[in-house]
Amino acid sequence: MLDFHKVSYQYPTENVDIIEELSFHVARGEFASLIGVSGCGKSTIFRLITQLLHPKSGTIDVGGKNIIGQKSYVGYMPQKDLLFPWRTIGQNLELPMELKGLSRTERERRRNEVLEEIGLKGYGNKYPKELSGGMRQRVAFGRTILTDSELLLLDEPFSALDFLTKLEMQEWLLTEWQQLQKTILFITHDIEEAIFLSQTIFVVGHTPIHTLERIQVPLPKMRTRACLNKPEIAALKNDLLEMLRRQVVS
Ligand SMILES: Nc1ncnc2c1ncn2[C@@H]1O[C@H](COP(=O)(O)OP(=O)(O)O)[C@@H](O)[C@H]1O
Ligand SMILES: [Mg+2]
Repeated sequence: MLDFHKVSYQYPTENVDIIEELSFHVARGEFASLIGVSGCGKSTIFRLITQLLHPKSGTIDVGGKNIIGQKSYVGYMPQKDLLFPWRTIGQNLELPMELKGLSRTERERRRNEVLEEIGLKGYGNKYPKELSGGMRQRVAFGRTILTDSELLLLDEPFSALDFLTKLEMQEWLLTEWQQLQKTILFITHDIEEAIFLSQTIFVVGHTPIHTLERIQVPLPKMRTRACLNKPEIAALKNDLLEMLRRQVVS
């Protein structure tokens, strides 16, 4: 679904590459997380996939094709929910469809479907400020799926939520992923969150990012929070913690 081939990137104001000949692969339908300390370059990888930034060398493929020239190949949920405060929830959800030029009736039909999907039926005419943090994140996720892309990029979507809301949202997202059959790449610095959600974890070992360490989570697709108490999961948690502690950002 997603392939990096020897991708390098350097911010124009910096004198070294932050990403250096990086190659990695995410399979179709997979839930993969990207973990690493703050500032190591995780969001930069997302900006390259969305073409907000362009590699200085190397190529990125989505669905087996170079992303250059492709449209609607990715849905991106940035670090902040970024709902437009002057638009209602319904209007926020319609945005990706407006950009695509869908008809008004089609937009309303899909919008209502998604409102139901994210558990916010009846909230279409409310404004973002009238919703809780968890609800706003669900709207942002709804807007991301309305891009109709098979690949979804979620950048620390739950990091600003309180503890219990965060746990609820993780469970909700896992169910959504199982129903929607999308490929999800999820950024977090929370080890437990990465383990609970993912089939695969990519660890950023150091910056510049030259390789990602790929770890398979030994849990079935359908899982509960109780699975986190298994001894092999506790061991994995420790290993990941050690890896992050060793991480040096140069
Ligand atoms: N526009 C920019 N110009 C120069 N450096 C940047 C820019 N954006 C981010 N960086 C630097 O690149 C590094 C990685 O940023 P980012 O990918 O956002 O990290 P992460 O998401 O892992 O916290 C940071 O050290 C940051 O200072
Ligand atoms: Mg970031």
